[in-house]
Amino acid sequence: MRVAVVTGAAGGMGRAITDQLLADGLQVVGVDIDGASLLTMAADREDFTPEAVDLIDPEAITDLFDRVTARFGGVDALVNNAGTCFMSDFPDIPAAELTRQMEINFHSAFHCCQQAVKAMAGRTGVRKIVNISSNGAYNFDVFDPPHYRASKAAMDTLTKDLARRYAREKIAVNSIAPAMTETPLFSVLTEEVLAKAISAMPHGHAMQPDQIAAWVGFLISAAGDVCSGNVIILNQGRDVR
Ligand SMILES: NC(=O)c1ccc[n+]([C@@H]2O[C@H](COP(=O)([O-])OP(=O)(O)OC[C@H]3O[C@@H](n4cnc5c(N)ncnc54)[C@H](O)[C@@H]3O)[C@@H](O)[C@H]2O)c1
Repeated sequence: MRVAVVTGAAGGMGRAITDQLLADGLQVVGVDIDGASLLTMAADREDFTPEAVDLIDPEAITDLFDRVTARFGGVDALVNNAGTCFMSDFPDIPAAELTRQMEINFHSAFHCCQQAVKAMAGRTGVRKIVNISSNGAYNFDVFDPPHYRASKAAMDTLTKDLARRYAREKIAVNSIAPAMTETPLFSVLTEEVLAKAISAMPHGHAMQPDQIAAWVGFLISAAGDVCSGNVIILNQGRDVR
């Protein structure tokens, strides 16, 4: 059975990605700081292993991948999905908020990739890393704050570096960059900002987490073996000029 590690598994997108990969027949290790929600998820899911980890701690990430490798023999897929969006206005962003934004969205993915490429060594077939970026790194008309955009742009550069670096080792690395997707993360927005952003979506409504998860599943399926180094933007065609 192929083994996938999904970060932020207890969130809106992470839960949908977990269910997509379980339906596709993978063993899923779900990682989140919200251990209680992971346990609730584990109660009605087979082949799901909850791992309560704070991903801003690099040592905890090393320990996580050691446990996964000891239990399952390695890792075939990693989905870096954990993230958040701090909303302070640029001149007033406290230094600690910038650091935390980068730690949660970028450093966590960086450290997970470091450990994952080791855990992927010796596995057969094309191994997969999927980074959940954001359309906010590319569209400057919408609300996204600069430290959030920068954290996702950094992630997408990591995607391209690793795709090139590990192409011959058969590790395919891609980013998926969604626009407005209905998850608990919407709560960081005021009603006014949310309504304006949703009204800009061409279909007149936000996307659903299972729509994003289907693309993650596609990349992790055999069809995704030939795709690496891409940032795939999902936004209903909103930004086509
Ligand atoms: N919802 C959107 O419109 C949207 C759009 C573009 C990109 N994204 C990205 O999608 C990803 C998933 O977000 P979501 O919308 O499902 O939000 P969410 O808040 O529902 O889920 C995020 C999950 O990450 C976990 N997490 C946060 N900090 C953590 C830490 N330090 N250690 C471990 N886990 C941690 C949270 O507990 C939560 O379960 C994020 O990277 C986000 O930036 C979301």
